[in-house]
Amino acid sequence: MRTVRTVEEVRAALAPRRKRGPVGLVPTMGAFHDGHLSLMRRARGDCATVVVSLFVNPAQFGPGEDLTAYPRDETRDAALAAELGMDILFAPPHEEVYPPGFDTSVAVHRLTEVLCGDPERRGPEHFTGVTTVVTKLFNMVGPDVAYFGQKDAQQAIVIRKLVRDLDIPVRIEILPTVREPDGLAMSSRNAYLAGEERECALALSRALRAADAAVASGRRDAAEVLMAARRELDAAGVEPEYLELRSAEDLSPAERVNGRTLLAVAARVGRARLIDNAVVGDE
Ligand code: PAF
Repeated sequence: MRTVRTVEEVRAALAPRRKRGPVGLVPTMGAFHDGHLSLMRRARGDCATVVVSLFVNPAQFGPGEDLTAYPRDETRDAALAAELGMDILFAPPHEEVYPPGFDTSVAVHRLTEVLCGDPERRGPEHFTGVTTVVTKLFNMVGPDVAYFGQKDAQQAIVIRKLVRDLDIPVRIEILPTVREPDGLAMSSRNAYLAGEERECALALSRALRAADAAVASGRRDAAEVLMAARRELDAAGVEPEYLELRSAEDLSPAERVNGRTLLAVAARVGRARLIDNAVVGDE
């Protein structure tokens, strides 16, 4: 595996490889866990060449968020990516992505104004940071396929919309959330959970399972399904930032579980802001 730092280098490394078959991109902010590794494995199976990008994108962190604390260990990440047979690690420095005078952003509207994008929460600016850097990564690398996790369900829906609206020639693959054996969704931010906080954090996945069980037992009314989830959060003393049922296609509010419905939860546990989700009523 080669590590490259500039757009020129990544394009030069890819030029002779393109004719061998599809180029896959796994965009990451590093601090790899099994969720990232599952994206890399899938990309390796699908593509002739796989690029993993590693860039902690300041534009998607709000003021007071964890940009400086965000876990970083490029040496470990590079070793893991190499073990999985990745071809190129693209780890640009800040100035390569945002050179002096950088003055452009790419925003997807509406979908980014709910859930995490509610202005009272992370706000739409978070997603504008994501869509700007993802658009740049697509332009820098020119992948045929790009891989993202369902754990960031809203991000996945926003990126699909970005690609559709701007006719970006890349196929988006969304892979299932990878969980710890006890159900906790893998996240780089789990590193912030100390002592008993980890136990509390399990309430999120328990809440999703309780809602899923309610749906399986025939409940369809949003209030009833949400109540089943809420009980689990309350029992652990976890106050959700949001707990909402929305269409898994366009994030419109769901009064009833009807077809693919996204149950999304966010909560702060200690220093960690955690998100998780499940698609319920998938029939
Ligand atoms: O999901 C992430 O790790 C980031 O939001 C992404 C897609 C790499 C953009 O910085």
